Amino acid sequence: MNELLTERRAMYNRNAFKIGLFGSNCSSGRAITKVPERWSGNWPDNLALALMAEKRGLDFMLPIGRWKGYGGDTNYQGETYETVTWATGLLAATERITVFATVHAPLLHPVFAAKQFVTADHIGEGRFGLNIVCGWNEGEFKMFGANQRDHEGRYGYGQEWIDIVRRIWERDEPFDFSGEYLSVGEVQGGPKPYGGTQPLIMNAGASPTGQAFAVKNCDALFCTPVGADTVDQLADGIQHAKDLAIRQGREIDVYSVGVVTCLPTMAEAEEYHRHCIIDDADWAAVDSILAMKNISPETIGAAEFERRRHHQAHGMGGIPIVGDPDHVAAEIARIAGAGLRGIGVSFVNYLKELPYFCDEVLPRLERMGLREGRP
Ligand SMILES: Cc1cc2nc3c(=O)[nH]c(=O)nc-3n(C[C@H](O)[C@H](O)[C@H](O)COP(=O)(O)O)c2cc1C
Repeated sequence: MNELLTERRAMYNRNAFKIGLFGSNCSSGRAITKVPERWSGNWPDNLALALMAEKRGLDFMLPIGRWKGYGGDTNYQGETYETVTWATGLLAATERITVFATVHAPLLHPVFAAKQFVTADHIGEGRFGLNIVCGWNEGEFKMFGANQRDHEGRYGYGQEWIDIVRRIWERDEPFDFSGEYLSVGEVQGGPKPYGGTQPLIMNAGASPTGQAFAVKNCDALFCTPVGADTVDQLADGIQHAKDLAIRQGREIDVYSVGVVTCLPTMAEAEEYHRHCIIDDADWAAVDSILAMKNISPETIGAAEFERRRHHQAHGMGGIPIVGDPDHVAAEIARIAGAGLRGIGVSFVNYLKELPYFCDEVLPRLERMGLREGRP
C-alpha cells in the first residue's frame, strides 16, 4: 500500500484504536428518545462538536445519509444535513480530524459525485472520507422518483458507480463507460484528489453481497453486531471480513458502532440509560423503523421482537456501552480486542457528554496502549 494511503487510513495519527462520532448530522442522533436534552443536530452544535472532538484528539466524524424522518412523537431524524456539504463545512473549520460523507450511490450521479468529493478533499487537505450506501429505505427513494433495485442490483449499480468515480480520480485521458446500469461518454475530471491519493472509502454492507462489495472496493467495513450477542461472535464476523479481503489480495479495516452512556457511577449510568432509552424512548418511532424492515411480532415472534425493539431504541442497534469510566474503558478495550480498527460512537447529547468521556475514558485507553495522548 502506498505511504500516503497508509497515512490516510491511519487518519494521520498513531492511535491504534480509532474513535469517532457517528450520527451527529441528524436530529436526535442515534438515540430514539423523547428526553428534552436529545441532540438538536443543528449547525452550531455540529460545528462546536467537531471542534471539540478534534481538540480532544478524536479521529473521525461519520454522518448518516437520511432524507426523511422516521415519524413517532419526535419525528426521529426528521431534521438532517446533507452530508457532503456538512462534511465540507466541518473540513473547512478543522485541521486534523477525518470527516466522512455518507452518500446514496443511486441518488447522485457519479460524475457530479466524483467532483464534489474532490472539492471536499482539497478543502480538507486529504481528510475527506466516503461512506457509500446502496440503499434500503423505499420511502427515501420514492422522494427522488427512483425505483429501488433488487438487493443484488443495488450493489451491481454501486459497483459501476464507484468504478466511474475512481476512473475520474485516476485517469487523465477522457474515457467512455458502458455498463448494465450506467453509461457515460468522454468523461474527464480534474483536479484529482488531494496529494496524489484517494479518499478513504467505507461501506456498511451486512449481507454477503454487501460485504463482498466492501471488501472489493473499500478501505473500511462498518459492521453492527445484530445477532452477535458475544464478543466472540463479533470477532468471528470481523475475521470473516478480513479473510474475504485477504482472499482478494486486499486488506480491510473493520469498524463498529457503539452507543455510550458514561457517568461517574454504574448506578447513575444505568439509571440515565433506562430513563432515555426505555422510560422515555420514542417507541412509536422505533416501531415504525422496525416495520419498514418488516420486523414485527408476526414476522419474528413476540420475544425476539421485544429484544429487537430495545436494541433499536438504544442507538439503532449499536453496541451498548453503559457504565462508569472504568467499565466503559474496559468494554471498549474488550471490543477492540475482537479485531476492530475503531468505533463510531454516539451519545444522547454529544456536546454535553463528550467532555466527560474524553476526560475520563480516553486517558484510560491511553494507559491500555489503545490510544496516544492528544496531539
Ligand atoms: C455504520 C452504518 C452506517 C450506515 N449508514 C447508513 C446511512 O447513512 N444511510 C442508509 O440509508 N443506510 C445506512 N446503513 C445501512 C447499510 O448501508 C446497509 O444497507 C445495511 O447495513 C444492510 O446491509 P446490506 O445492504 O448488505 O443488506 C448503515 C449501516 C451501518 C452499519
